[in-house]
Amino acid sequence: DAGDHESFMRKEMLEQPAAAERVLRGRLDERFGTAHLGGLEMDPRETRAVRRVKVLGCGSAYYVGQMGASLIEELARIPADAEAASEFRYRDPVIEPDTLYVAVSQSGETVDTLLAVQEIQRKGGRVIGLVNVVGSAIARECGAGIYLHAGPEVAVASTKALTNMFLGFSLLALQLGRVRDLSVADGRRLIAGLQALPAAVEEVLAQEDALAAVAQRLAEAESLFFVGRVRGFPVAREGAQKFKEISYRHAEAYQTSELKHGPLALISEEVPTVAVVPDDELTERNVAALHEIAARKGPLVVVTHPGVDLGGLDVVRIDVPHLERELDPILLTIPLQLLAYHAAKHLGHDIDKPRNLAKSVTVE
Ligand code: AGP
Repeated sequence: DAGDHESFMRKEMLEQPAAAERVLRGRLDERFGTAHLGGLEMDPRETRAVRRVKVLGCGSAYYVGQMGASLIEELARIPADAEAASEFRYRDPVIEPDTLYVAVSQSGETVDTLLAVQEIQRKGGRVIGLVNVVGSAIARECGAGIYLHAGPEVAVASTKALTNMFLGFSLLALQLGRVRDLSVADGRRLIAGLQALPAAVEEVLAQEDALAAVAQRLAEAESLFFVGRVRGFPVAREGAQKFKEISYRHAEAYQTSELKHGPLALISEEVPTVAVVPDDELTERNVAALHEIAARKGPLVVVTHPGVDLGGLDVVRIDVPHLERELDPILLTIPLQLLAYHAAKHLGHDIDKPRNLAKSVTVE
């Protein structure tokens, strides 16, 4: 029941602060600066024996999986990457005994992800699930894992489940990190950031009116770019995915650094770019790329942090709170949900049931 809300997607976006609190509840240990994830069924010795992490998911779950893999690599210093589960099985992957495989899915019924889990298990690998729906096929098949507690998600365009996936990865990264070299101080710093996150999400959601106005202008474009670098790139991918899913506009995600290797040729007054520019070691380089876009008259919407100097460029600026750098991706993602939502609304589309798409893809 969407209640007073005009759509499930809007209801689910607004539920994100409460959903975020649920996934964190009872799992943070401030004393030792770590996370407790009983469902993983791994003792510290087993956790320490993990040499590599491989995340598998489809669509938006894959993009959040990329954010999660970076988080694990950064905090636990374990090589980690993400792959589209729909491709994994078809390349006859080598399954390594000391790799921890992580299957990530809202529905727990996505058949491509389920088949990837079965491929790993058939070859003797260990796979855990990051799943929202309790008792779903992927959760049952994995046996061990982290439930996301986002609550039921109805809109085809996933929002609150993705935020909770990111937080699930943060908890996993914390636990993997703390049995290795992540200091208790860094663990506590991250916990403080996680505790502050629901209120920060609320702050972003409060910018809805301003974002709606920006979205209406973006909706007029036939084609858009979403760009970001390193931590910001999966954010751009997810932003483009959401935009195309419900607005039906062509939205392409690119690494900002790759623009000059080709796509810059497409930039013009008619092709806006939504750029993700966090306050980090790459800010200056990101801003330099924005100048390249502006020089070709490309309209710019910049999702950034307060205090970032955009060098006097004429852009539409969206500031999100800056907690801890590791948590940037999810806070930078929230305004992109609202942009997609309001573009689709402006265009009069059926937001909860976009054409050609199903909530859960149970065919190969
Ligand atoms: C998200 O907005 C999409 N509808 C889609 O990419 C989705 O994330 C994907 O199909 C995976 O679904 P799952 O999380 O239920 O496995």
